[in-house]
Amino acid sequence: MTWNELENACKACTKCALYETRRNCVVGVGNREAEIMFVGEGPGEQEDATGEPFVGRGGKLLDDMLEIIDLSRNTNIYIANIVKCRPPQNRDPLNSEQDACIDWLREQFRLIRPKIVVCLGRIAANVMIGGDFKITRDHGKWYDKDGVQFTALYHPAALLRDPNRKPDTFVDLKNLQRKIGEICERTY
Ligand code: URA
Ligand code: SF4
Repeated sequence: MTWNELENACKACTKCALYETRRNCVVGVGNREAEIMFVGEGPGEQEDATGEPFVGRGGKLLDDMLEIIDLSRNTNIYIANIVKCRPPQNRDPLNSEQDACIDWLREQFRLIRPKIVVCLGRIAANVMIGGDFKITRDHGKWYDKDGVQFTALYHPAALLRDPNRKPDTFVDLKNLQRKIGEICERTY
């Protein structure tokens, strides 16, 4: 599949019921040649309205977090979500919806071939790293899967709800920056 085929197929997707209420299918944003892929949970209201991931208040915080370590959605990373269409009332995506949608993320992963995957929040970490991942316990840890390095940060929305978690996230970001310096060739 090419990027164009992926985008078109995703925007036409009816594999789960979320297509019925979406305004936009939020495929992803960023540099398709990035060495680092960020994965969130699913679009919220603003993302559904605009078609771009992480554009609400949480998105602003994410951009600020990225800037601390010289990353930005427009230059050196790619950002996608587990589910591409907004769950109504921003509820968690159902397992059945995640299962229906995961092939699109697999295809994005195959096209990008990232060296590092950064999960944002528990749901992305459970899917990408493992079902027993606990975000409070395991954020910032590194997992090698077939030579790709996986980690997870607190979700920006969780940081907005609970700013006490920000110092931990700062440490995680600095560790991410160091890991990028070690294994990425084109990011910085
Ligand atoms: N939260 C997410 O997990 N993803 C988005 O794109 C927006 C908010
Ligand atoms: Fe298709 Fe994913 Fe949207 Fe469901 S959430 S309709 S699987 S693109």
